[in-house]
Amino acid sequence: MRAAPRDNVAMPQILPLDDRSIAIAAEHIRAGRLVAFPTETVYGVGGDATNGEAVAAIFEAKGRPRFNPLIVHVPDMIAARRIGDFDKRAEELASRFWPGPLTLVVRRRADNGISELACTGLDTLAIRMPAHRGARTFLAEANRPLAAPSANRSGKVSPTTAQHVAEELGDAVALILDGGPCEVGLESTVLDMSGEEPVLLRPGGVPLEELEEALGRKIAVAKAGVTVVSPGMLESHYAPGLPLRMNAKKAEAGEALLGFGPAPDATLNLSETGNLREAAANLFAHLRSLDRPDFAAIAVMPIPEQGLGRAINDRLRRAAAPRG
Ligand code: TXA
Ligand code: MG
Repeated sequence: MRAAPRDNVAMPQILPLDDRSIAIAAEHIRAGRLVAFPTETVYGVGGDATNGEAVAAIFEAKGRPRFNPLIVHVPDMIAARRIGDFDKRAEELASRFWPGPLTLVVRRRADNGISELACTGLDTLAIRMPAHRGARTFLAEANRPLAAPSANRSGKVSPTTAQHVAEELGDAVALILDGGPCEVGLESTVLDMSGEEPVLLRPGGVPLEELEEALGRKIAVAKAGVTVVSPGMLESHYAPGLPLRMNAKKAEAGEALLGFGPAPDATLNLSETGNLREAAANLFAHLRSLDRPDFAAIAVMPIPEQGLGRAINDRLRRAAAPRG
């Protein structure tokens, strides 16, 4: 049974996928707005991965209670190499399975312009080149790498038609490109190629056996809950080296003050106007730049526990948790 549209959510514009609608969609992306688009796997909600506030708007649209790293979509190999480091094995996999439902996690290129929020401060990046022709035309036209998780509200199933997307996201997206039902209907396979050993992080459109055959070896499968993106492991990845203190009114001696709202004494401010989207966009970059030995600790001013504030506080709480 299909869910009824959510109350008091305006329906977004839906246009059939063609050159004209792609041009409009590309404009929206460059202006920092979100566009839902079909891929061969599922519909994605895309935003400019180099624009932190657009990435924050994606998390907001999905209503996610926590930040997780997003897949960055590219139209071709040139765009892929610009943002990620492809070693020989990753190049081989890309040439064999791209375009297609395979996402490769590789080391992130320094200064690649991708927002810290899109990869949640990790030094790796998940990259995918979709097989869907219209999707690739849109990506090329937008001329930006697109962060694009599945276009559903958090906790709901991934949408495979434009109508599903409209019901899920309402007018949180500027436009939905309607390319009909998705062919695969299942997300891309996520393969981590950033370390010594390849690791399957998420089963999906490309079967494990085909990847093993291509690599000529067995691939370790990350158990649910112990992948690099599970909360437990994230702690060691994301936590700043310095102790972190939440809900601080002011800094104690030696502390850096991370402000939110008006705060003349802040060392850095997540958002002087108290804008949660701006704060989310700045979160990982600011934590990173305050995490240096000149300070004894990072004191963070209170962030309201609503909307994106929940995901921001979730991240801060885990960074503040005592480490063993
Ligand atoms: O089929 C798909 O892949 C769809 C369509 C829209 O392309 N996209 C999608 O994106 O599912 P997303 O962002 O929801 O997928 C994120 C997955 C998660 O399992 C996440 O943990 C993993 O990719 N991921 C992203 N960046 C990662 C990283 N740096 N290291 C490890 N895993 C990463
Ligand atoms: Mg999803």
